[in-house]
Amino acid sequence: MRYHDKPHGDLQWFQHDRFGLFIHWGLYSLGARHEWLKNQEEMSDEQYDRYLPAFEPDLHDPEQWAELASAAGMKYFVITTKHHDGFCLWDTKQTDYKAPNSPAGRDLLRPMIEAFRRRGLRVGLYYSLPDWRHPEFPIDRIHPQRNHPDREQINASRQMGRYAEYLHAQVRELLTEYGQIDVLWFDMGQGYQPGQKGRKEWQSEKLLAMIRELQPQILVNDRLELIDAYGWDFLTPEQYAVREAPVIGGELVPWETCQTFSGSWGYHRDEMSWKSVDQLVRLLIDTVSKGGNLLLNVGPTGRGEFDYRACERLVGIGEWMKQHGRAIYGCTAAPPEFECPDNCCLTYNPATRRLYVHILAWPLRALHLPGLGGKVVYAQLLHDASELPMLEGGGYQNIEGGQAVSPPGLLTIELPVSAPRVAVPVVELMLKDGVGGR
Ligand code: GLC
Repeated sequence: MRYHDKPHGDLQWFQHDRFGLFIHWGLYSLGARHEWLKNQEEMSDEQYDRYLPAFEPDLHDPEQWAELASAAGMKYFVITTKHHDGFCLWDTKQTDYKAPNSPAGRDLLRPMIEAFRRRGLRVGLYYSLPDWRHPEFPIDRIHPQRNHPDREQINASRQMGRYAEYLHAQVRELLTEYGQIDVLWFDMGQGYQPGQKGRKEWQSEKLLAMIRELQPQILVNDRLELIDAYGWDFLTPEQYAVREAPVIGGELVPWETCQTFSGSWGYHRDEMSWKSVDQLVRLLIDTVSKGGNLLLNVGPTGRGEFDYRACERLVGIGEWMKQHGRAIYGCTAAPPEFECPDNCCLTYNPATRRLYVHILAWPLRALHLPGLGGKVVYAQLLHDASELPMLEGGGYQNIEGGQAVSPPGLLTIELPVSAPRVAVPVVELMLKDGVGGR
């Protein structure tokens, strides 16, 4: 069996849009020291539940969140409907452990979905398969109560099958009560270690069949532990930039890397390892140059705001995206016939047949493009559409009247001495007819 032989959801928009916002928001936002704090500190339910009466997102403005994402150039969002702690942002009928029963007093999911949709963003829902609060969920090795002295006794009365029913019922609610959902993003399905749960416990095949029936166009990520069965639409390498586009069974497959601003997913007040705007822009370019998507995460505060560091980054990325979106949307890896010059990344739009050279280190006056001689009609800097002279074959030395020593097929683009004031300058190349077909 091959990936492309299986039915999949609507990948067209996904592989066009390339850039989305991940949101991790819940009770852990109040702890402000990692979304796994219940687990890391081995808190009991009673200890952790001190956050429930304190969860009062009085500054939450979904319109503003959607606006920030849209201005950053993001085209879809994925929100944690329920993280591992089991707390639900929506008005689920399956449990009382939900936002409407906190001081928030309302379903927080619906207004977010509506606000993002209004701005044309696609809707993705994150759902954690494990649940550290559910009374039927057996305590395992990655559970906050893993060292509880009565663990075996507690587990004796818990039934995974009953938890699976809960999980399936919740997914059904999410897929029937909020209109079209574009992405379903599961987490923690990996049962490859002893003592962890896997496809059998989650009843993954049955779950996937229900999902495909309720919303055939939906995209499902790869964390239901159905990798071999191709029960997924895209891969999700987490927190690292892939070296090469992922290949499975000899085929290039759709993928999306999810990344944080500073390390943890939930709001972390004291974390200092924030990536810069430049780094994030490069991460996006690198991802698209390998045919992937970037899902960039923000952890809003317990009061419901994106903090100033997140806002600064989103605004900075948005400045670059405003002028360079053309080198991202609809783009993918360049065909192998185009050689990537030193210190650059290439992206390519097969529909417009434009090739984008993202210049990571600004060279002195000349950008040499081996193999592109005779293939380009027009070259310009993308951010201001300023024409760039093309020197065919002769190489840069010709400008000063020196001796041209140049390999055949070399195209040299003449650059201004000073780098443009943008995070990463991009040269846009319009190709001659018949060049760069895909
Ligand atoms: C990891 C983390 C989890 C986070 C997820 C996002 O699985 O455990 O907290 O939600 O990554 O991909």
